[in-house]
Parts: sequence; structure tokens; C-alpha cells
Amino acid sequence: MLVSAGVRGSCFLLIIITCVGFVSARITSSFVRSEWPSVDIPLDHQVFAIPKGHNAPQQVRITQGDYDGKAVIISWVTPDEPGSNKVQYGKSENKYDSSAEGMVTNYTFYNYKSGYIHHCLVDDLEYDTKYYYKIGDGHSSREFWFQTPPKIDPDVSYTFGIIGDLGQTYNSLSTLEHYMQSGGQTVLFVGDLSYADRYEYNDVGIRWDSWGRFVEQSAAYQPWLWSAGNHEIEYMPKMGEVIPFKSYLYRIATPHMATNSTSKLWYAVRRASAHIIVLSNYSPYVKYTPQWRWLREELTRVNREKTPWLIVLMHVPIYNSNSAHFMEGESMRSVYESWFVHARVDFIFAGHVHAYERSYRISNIHYNVTSGDPYPVPDKSAPVYITVGDGGNQEGLAGRYMDPQPEYSAYREASYGHSTLELKNRTHAFYHWNRNDDGKKVPTDLVMFHNQYWASNMQRRRLKRNHRKAGIATDH
Ligand SMILES: *[C@@H]1O[C@H](CO)[C@@H](O)[C@H](O)[C@H]1NC(C)=O
Ligand SMILES: *[C@@H]1O[C@H](CO)[C@@H](O)[C@H](O)[C@H]1NC(C)=O
Ligand SMILES: *[C@@H]1O[C@H](CO)[C@@H](O)[C@H](O)[C@H]1NC(C)=O
Ligand SMILES: *[C@@H]1O[C@H](CO)[C@@H](O)[C@H](O)[C@H]1NC(C)=O
Ligand SMILES: [Fe+2]
Repeated sequence: MLVSAGVRGSCFLLIIITCVGFVSARITSSFVRSEWPSVDIPLDHQVFAIPKGHNAPQQVRITQGDYDGKAVIISWVTPDEPGSNKVQYGKSENKYDSSAEGMVTNYTFYNYKSGYIHHCLVDDLEYDTKYYYKIGDGHSSREFWFQTPPKIDPDVSYTFGIIGDLGQTYNSLSTLEHYMQSGGQTVLFVGDLSYADRYEYNDVGIRWDSWGRFVEQSAAYQPWLWSAGNHEIEYMPKMGEVIPFKSYLYRIATPHMATNSTSKLWYAVRRASAHIIVLSNYSPYVKYTPQWRWLREELTRVNREKTPWLIVLMHVPIYNSNSAHFMEGESMRSVYESWFVHARVDFIFAGHVHAYERSYRISNIHYNVTSGDPYPVPDKSAPVYITVGDGGNQEGLAGRYMDPQPEYSAYREASYGHSTLELKNRTHAFYHWNRNDDGKKVPTDLVMFHNQYWASNMQRRRLKRNHRKAGIATDH
């Protein structure tokens, strides 16, 4: 049964999914928002302010540094000289009794010369603990803090934010500010970061730097788990730049080595009650490629008894009913969809389409070019596909949808926003999509999800118990 109650006045919508199928009305929201122009914030705006002091660390951010959440990688840029690679840290403010030594790198892009990009692994941390850290030298040093996640446990609660296609416009700022009020503890970023590739020549590097300073207000204090989108490719032969993902790979750290991935572009982490797999749509992924072999391996490491929630991040949506980027996820779908269904993945989050959309549980794994139904069908084992490409970059919104709304699409709206996923325990998660709504935080698409592994396990056990009581034989 599927219950849907919409309270029009407050734009509040609660949908409780206890079963699958195309049961209730699908929703194409008619909400019309007033819009800021989709232009990048000028470089002299205070959200891009350069911290005071000679060679002061800027663009500070952290990400998970190991498989299980007991490490972080801290990254920052020093503009004038390499400076120190050291992170000092400890459990109380102003008392840094530990330190770690990182590495420094730099690169050029056309005639732009990057600052000194530091990455430092801080490991052997305690779970569920607040750490303070300090980077930089002398009077220019800066201090931040972060909270480590709880120990991996199937029933521990934890809240993720999901942001995609962010860019650096006034809408991006609105998304970031709304996210920071949401209680999210870690960001799952679904690709297309700075949109610096909309610029040419030296401005590409300059807009990567401004974006790094822009997201620092969140990313220095909680991990952002990165996946790469098409705007990170930066294939710009006109400027002599032909190495894909050059800026991204210099600037962004991921813990890919913890799962024996050979590329920063695909990896996995376990955090609280979730196993999170990050894939790259713009790296080879067909049969026998390194990514394909790695994913096949990684799926065998998933243990739903320990991490009940299985989440996949990628940039290109596999199911999308927007005219923008329609069918672009089809090639990856044809390679991986049956794995996702057999693994009982809970959620697949993507971006790319500058709008919001959520699917029902559907699959199209019975279709092949010689036979089978070419339409996706309701499938209890399938993931829910969610597109959150609505971070607010300078390309604006993707407002044209397939009409009528296809049966696989549950909710869709072309507005800016972000999502949060509150994992409550092994069986329940609350999911919200939050539309920016010009200033106020308005939760719009609100859904309670049951875990794909445990909910059905419990159902099986309940059935078995009932059957036993009734004296019915069972093969469950
Ligand atoms: C990196 O920095 C060093 C030291 O300042 C400099 O000599 C070198 O040219 C830089 N490399 C690149 C690729 O910019
Ligand atoms: C990575 O490979 C090493 C060496 O083969 C192995 O010991 C380790 O368990 C692997 N890591 C994972 C997460 O499988
Ligand atoms: C193609 O799909 C049909 C119908 O689902 C199935 O019976 C058949 O085995 C499939 N063929 C291959 C090669 O997978
Ligand atoms: C799991 O969380 C849900 C939602 O908060 C709650 O209703 C349910 O009772 C919890 N289950 C257990 C076993 O605590
Ligand atoms: Fe994209």
C-alpha cells in the first residue's frame, strides 16, 4: 500500500512507501519559484574571501580517509609558497597533542599556476569524537574541527546530505546555506563541482580556487565524499589541456586505496550504517575494465548485517524523465543494473540533470536486444533512483520533462535544492528533498524508506513465524 497526503498550503508532502508498484498518482510539481539569475558570484564577493595572513591556508576541506571512518584526509591550498604539510590535532580546542605530515603538489593549467595543494591523512582516530585541527604556519595558521562518525553498527543513526551540480552562483550559495541548516553530517556529492570549465584560459584555475574557498564553510568541518561529473573532465585542446580530470585529480582526495581501487574516480567507504559505492560515468566501465572488476569485487565485500544501507553514487542518472540528458545513463544501466538489483541496493543517487526526480523501485533487467519487455517494471529488489542535480550552477534549471510523466517516475520538479537521508536504524530511513524556496528551508518530497535487506529479512522471519504457528511448511 502506498499512502500519499499532500498539504498544498505548506508545500509539504509525505509519502510512505510500504510496498512497490505504480499505485498512486505520480507527481510533477507545479511549484514555480522566483529565480536569481544563474550567474556566478563575482570574485570579490565575501564568500570567496581570501583568509588574512601571508600564505594562509585556504580551500580547506576534509573527506573520509579510510574504509571504516577512523581517518580523514585534510586538504588545503597555500598560495605563495609550499609552507608546512603538517596537521596538528587533538580532542580539545587549542591543545593539539598529535600531528600528521602530508604531501604537497602543484600543477599548471594553460598559463595558470596552481597554489601548493596539500593532502594529509590523519588516521587512528577514535569513533564518535570531536577533533580540533590546525594547519598553516605562525600568524597565518587556521583552526577547524570535525566529528568522527560512530563505530560501524547496523542500528546507529546517521544523516547524509546529498548535493549535486553545485557551481558558484547565488543559487549555489542558497543550496549550501540550506544544507548547513539541515543537520547533515556528511555530504555525498554527486559530481559537477565548480563549473570552472565554463571559463577559458587562466580563469579555469581561478574559478577552481574560488569554489574551494566557497565550500570551505561546510567542507572544512565535515567530510564531503566526492564523485566526478562531466564538468571535471576539462578536455580543452584549444588551451593545450588534454588530460582528463587534471584539476580534479590534483585537488580532490578520495580514499580509493582503502578498497584497492586503482583510481581516485571510483571507490567505496563504510560509514555508520552505510556502505557507499562511488562510480565514474566518464571512466571505462564495461566488462573487463578496471572499474568493472573493482565493482564486482567490492560488491562481495558488502555485509548488510554490519552496514544495512547500500548506497551508490554516480553522476549520470540511470532513470530520468527530464528532456535534459535523457538516456545518457543507458549504457551504464545495461552493464550494472542487474548487479544493483541482485545486490539489493537501497539508493542510487545521481546529478547531471539540473532538477529533482525520484523513481519508484523499478528495473529493466529482463530486456535485451532479442527479447524481453523494453519498459522498466515494478521490482521490489530494485534500488530507488534519485536525481539531485539541482545544486544551482550557472547553467540554470532543466525544466522540460517527458509528458506524460512515465510510470517509473514518482516525483519530479525543476527547482534548486538538496536532499538529506536520515538512516534511523537497520530497517528505517527518512529521506527529504529540500527545495531552496528563496530563503526558507522547505522540505518537499518526504519519504520513509524501508531497508532493502532487513525489511524483507524481517518480513521473511515474520512469515516463517506465522507459518510455523499455523503449521504451514515454508521454504523461506
Ligand atoms: C611547483 O612548485 C615549484 C616550487 O615553487 C616550482 O618550481 C614548479 O615549477 C611548480 N610546478 C608546476 C607544475 O607548476
Ligand atoms: C586490498 O589488497 C590487500 C592485498 O591483496 C588485501 O590484504 C586487502 O584486504 C585488500 N583490501 C580490501 C578492502 O579488500
Ligand atoms: C534475453 O531476454 C530473454 C527474456 O527475458 C531471456 O529469456 C533470455 O535469456 C535473454 N538472453 C540473454 C542472452 O540474456
Ligand atoms: C527503527 O526506526 C523507526 C523509525 O524511527 C522506528 O519506528 C522503529 O521502531 C525502529 N526499529 C527498531 C527495531 O528500533
Ligand atoms: Fe553533469
